[in-house]
Amino acid sequence: MPKVYISSWIPEEAVSLITPYAEVDMWQQADPPSREQLLHSVADIDGLVTWGLDKIDSTIIEAAPKLKVISNVSVGYDNIDFDAATKRGIRISNTPDVLTDTTADLAFTIMLAFARKIPFTTSVVTKGEWKNWSIFGNPWLGWDVHHKTLGIIGLGRVGSAVVRRAKGFAMKVIYYDIIRRQPQEEAELGIEFVKDIPTLLAMSDYVSLHVPLDSSTRHLIGEKELSLMKPTAILVNSARGGVVDQKALYEALKRKQIKGAAVDVVEVEPIPKDDPILTLDNILITPHIGGATKATREKMCLLAAQNMAAALKGEPMPTCVNCHLLGKK
Ligand code: DGY
Repeated sequence: MPKVYISSWIPEEAVSLITPYAEVDMWQQADPPSREQLLHSVADIDGLVTWGLDKIDSTIIEAAPKLKVISNVSVGYDNIDFDAATKRGIRISNTPDVLTDTTADLAFTIMLAFARKIPFTTSVVTKGEWKNWSIFGNPWLGWDVHHKTLGIIGLGRVGSAVVRRAKGFAMKVIYYDIIRRQPQEEAELGIEFVKDIPTLLAMSDYVSLHVPLDSSTRHLIGEKELSLMKPTAILVNSARGGVVDQKALYEALKRKQIKGAAVDVVEVEPIPKDDPILTLDNILITPHIGGATKATREKMCLLAAQNMAAALKGEPMPTCVNCHLLGKK
């Protein structure tokens, strides 16, 4: 029987989709397996169910000579060395769609939370420091979101879902994507295409990033791009930390070159506790919780298990990301 390793605990309902077709070994602890543990566990497996915290690089792939399928419990798959896996003929799948709305909710939440100073104001209350209330005297005056201009970079599933939320807040939405949408889609969403990222950055009050991380998007937002943003603008990143040059962001925030940033993702996760960006008061950071609701995580796990089960049965995988390159389904 083929062997499948699941590198993070997933619900029994998902595991039971795989067990009829493979011998399953699942990591049971809350902390992810160490590098050594992962290297050891993949030695004789045929299939791997994994997620973003496990870096499946070429060393791991080489340590798994029988590996044929990697099912990632995540829509992004930048944790996997795509080229090394594809070269070996290993199929990779992800979990699109099922987390779109949940992730868009989070992107909108952190934008609102930063703009209305929610972390700061709630801490004032819980620390017992809410002593007065004046029209202008308190440090908790925030910034409006409604009727402001939102610039979306990357109009994929999540980007489009954020647009729909923004429309409920009467925002003007502009977007840049490498592929311009058809006029009908633009009209339906009520969005306006801008010709390039510099134009979008200069026009936006809020800039929200929705591109996958790959070699073309790494540090898409760096020192130069940050310098093009309005001094009153807020950067929102719920995509991947590597899309933003975090050192440049730190410098821009420290100099108050932009108003602030609300991010769910950082370059190194979990963020080291001595990272200087944590000393700033104009950034809000959540711990990569875009897709983190119980219901959505369950759907992600089920889809990942369906992908693995399909591969084991020799059927087309529902959401394979490299099968077209391998001439497989
Ligand atoms: C995803 O699915 O890519 C989310 O960021 C969770 O990892």
